[in-house]
Amino acid sequence: MGVVPPLIDVTQEIPALSCFRTTCADTHGTNCAGNPSQVDHPSHMSPKPFVKWAGGKRQLLQDLLQRLPSSFQSYHEPFVGGGALFFALQEKRMLDDKLVRLTDINGELINAYQIVRDRVETLISLLSTFPNDSDFFYEIRALNPSNLDPIQRAARFVYLNKTCFNGLFRENSKGQFNVPFGRYKQVQICAPNDLRAASFALRKVAVEVASFDDIEHDCAAGDFVYCDPPYAPQSRTASFTKYHGSGFTEREQERLADWVCRLGLRGVHVLVSNSAVPLTLRLYRDLHIEKVLARRAINSRGDRRGPIHELLVAAGPLAIQLSESQRKR
Ligand SMILES: C[S@@+](CC[C@H](N)C(=O)[O-])C[C@H]1O[C@@H](n2cnc3c(N)ncnc32)[C@H](O)[C@@H]1O
Repeated sequence: MGVVPPLIDVTQEIPALSCFRTTCADTHGTNCAGNPSQVDHPSHMSPKPFVKWAGGKRQLLQDLLQRLPSSFQSYHEPFVGGGALFFALQEKRMLDDKLVRLTDINGELINAYQIVRDRVETLISLLSTFPNDSDFFYEIRALNPSNLDPIQRAARFVYLNKTCFNGLFRENSKGQFNVPFGRYKQVQICAPNDLRAASFALRKVAVEVASFDDIEHDCAAGDFVYCDPPYAPQSRTASFTKYHGSGFTEREQERLADWVCRLGLRGVHVLVSNSAVPLTLRLYRDLHIEKVLARRAINSRGDRRGPIHELLVAAGPLAIQLSESQRKR
């Protein structure tokens, strides 16, 4: 008999904790039952990525934060992944009162963002029943997400991310998730307050499945677009990282570079991070380029975890701003 519990009765929606819906002044110091609280209001907690993500930018955050436009209108992140920069900007209150749009081509990831934003308490109650157990992992992994309710899909996705090897997201040619069980002794499958803090950070944010070029017409002069595509490979012979079934090929890197140039010409502030390799140096040679040292967080080969050069590229008015500040340094 299988170990998967009746995968969740999600007909019973759990409302967002009412104390989290009111203002901090009303609720700080009391929990939902009205007792003295150990639970901070989510607006007081530092939001951070709720998934581990290959190419996640937590290591590069300081370099990115030093290169933001001095002011901007809307914020767009078309390769959001774990959203390290988005959550850091929210923590610094730099996105208050701005339109924010997060997109990615990975439908399972985006469904999880939408559920964390809209139905976080139901997700927490479900996820907190999932054990760190190999048999359970393989049963959950074998489920076809298209047969699941969006809450179940999100719980499956977050669970697999926390318990699989290295937090990788990899699918086979049939689109089935195929990363093995991670065998971690200590793993926090459900961190309720982290999920609540992420939910609060996402509360007014548009989150959609899209390819980067689908959002071109949503980006206007004065907006800020941060692009963190799958890395261009270190050498031409290395296969391009497959974050998604279709992969992100050299042709895609070229299309992205053209897209970045077009946005820059329209007065959009664009910042791109990528690996500093001959291909990217060539594609972005006409834009503002800086090389910085970074340590890549997820790489199944330990010998590739060392410091490595990353490329930061700016287009549009941000390129002028960064060239001027570089001249003054
Ligand atoms: C390097 S990761 C982004 C990491 C993210 N900055 C973070 O902090 O975790 C690249 C992301 O690009 C997404 N992606 C791949 N091809 C894409 C495309 N054509 N359009 C939009 N997103 C794409 C992948 O699903 C992946 O989440």
